[in-house]
Amino acid sequence: MPGKVIMGAQWGDEGKGKFIDIFASRADMVIRSQGGNNAGHTVVVGSETYKLHVIPSGILYKNCVNIIGPGVVVDPGVVLAEIDGLKNRGISTDLLYIDPRCHVIMPWHIALDALSENSRGKSDIGTTKKGIGPCYMDKAERSGIRMHDFINPEKLKKAVFEAGARKNEIITLLYREKPLDLNEIYETSLALADKLRPYVRDTSILSFDAVKSGKNVLFEGAQGTLLDLDMGTYPFVTSSHPVTGGACIGSGVGPTAINECLGVAKAYTTRVGKGPFPTELFDETGDAIRERGFEYGTTTGRPRRCGWFDSVIVRYSVRVNGLTELILNKIDPLSGLKSLKICTAYKINGKTVYEFPADFTELEGCEPVYEEFPGFSGDISSVRAYSDLPREVKSYVEAVEDLCRCPVRMIGVGPSRDSVVYR
Ligand code: GDP
Ligand code: IMO
Ligand code: MG
Repeated sequence: MPGKVIMGAQWGDEGKGKFIDIFASRADMVIRSQGGNNAGHTVVVGSETYKLHVIPSGILYKNCVNIIGPGVVVDPGVVLAEIDGLKNRGISTDLLYIDPRCHVIMPWHIALDALSENSRGKSDIGTTKKGIGPCYMDKAERSGIRMHDFINPEKLKKAVFEAGARKNEIITLLYREKPLDLNEIYETSLALADKLRPYVRDTSILSFDAVKSGKNVLFEGAQGTLLDLDMGTYPFVTSSHPVTGGACIGSGVGPTAINECLGVAKAYTTRVGKGPFPTELFDETGDAIRERGFEYGTTTGRPRRCGWFDSVIVRYSVRVNGLTELILNKIDPLSGLKSLKICTAYKINGKTVYEFPADFTELEGCEPVYEEFPGFSGDISSVRAYSDLPREVKSYVEAVEDLCRCPVRMIGVGPSRDSVVYR
């Protein structure tokens, strides 16, 4: 079993961290290939909860190599704080490597993320304000600072004063704010670079060797398909490629290394930040799902918008990711609801639409078409065999796989590592 990608099939926070951790018990390597610390991946082991932002979710296994691949944008302070936090809890980071090609999130990226969001007013995207978009903008514009430069004091100095001066012009002239103190940024960066240097290593060689020798390699998606820069609900997206194809680009591993593409979807839908969400609930059912599922952002703490499962978007994810399997996570929070609904299509101007449109503004005035299912009750978090699940849960799961045209192989019934029903 060489390469397996685990990707979010909705708008992020589907439970990717939990499943990477589960698969990592048999993996030799876990690779993050896109995004940065906009991600928040939760792993629950017994009474311990780990919230990982940049470090791959295989880090809890001491023999697993964890790679921050070339496509990830890295905030040096955040990754070092995460390393310290893990070490303080007795978790080794000896097998953690950061690719020298990673672009570095600098203080001006964070400042510009906030300034740009504020200047958009009501048309803001609702970003995590972690500097992700501005950092990827510099990468695409070919003016970013890569990790190999960041850890080289002379190159760092040149980069900070040149790039920083240009950004200060934008901050002062366009946004009329105070300039950033570049001397202070340089001094702080030097200290961070010293601590990061031992982790920096050409990971494309490590991942190539792992794949070539038949090791088990997991590609950990961050965000989710509908947040993809091309395939998502643009412009309400992130600035990277959270689709299975992105795993290759962002790791420097060719597509022949991947033979399984797994999509994680919640049994309902959530989204943080702005943008279209056809099945969003604004009533007490939406509130009930938020409270039972504890739907608050792992990174920003923002309440997540909640709604019914939308098979139009997950079917779209199955198609654009080439998913071989679906994992239907977080079905337990639906317990206690009288009935459950799945969106099968949208009604737009009297027409029934089954495909998610390229231009989401076509969704304006859209009404989701729902199929209704009987609800279930009781605590299902200790169920481990599919046959032991309530009949209503099984028909819901089977409807999901029919509508999404992809088999559901695993079902999440609780936050912890072992709260999974395998089929
Ligand atoms: P990720 O970003 O995709 O890794 O997901 P997050 O960690 O941001 O959000 C998922 C949340 O749901 C976390 O708080 C998890 O601990 C929790 N969770 C994961 N799986 C389940 C499940 O099957 N049931 C319940 N109730 N909670 C779950
Ligand atoms: P994980 O990996 C959910 C959303 C933000 C915003 C949009 C753009 O935990 O699933 P950005 O800061 O990336 O420029 O914000 O993307 N977003 C996420 N939503 N889960 C995430 O990651 C997200 N990462 C970014 O809320 O709407
Ligand atoms: Mg998350």
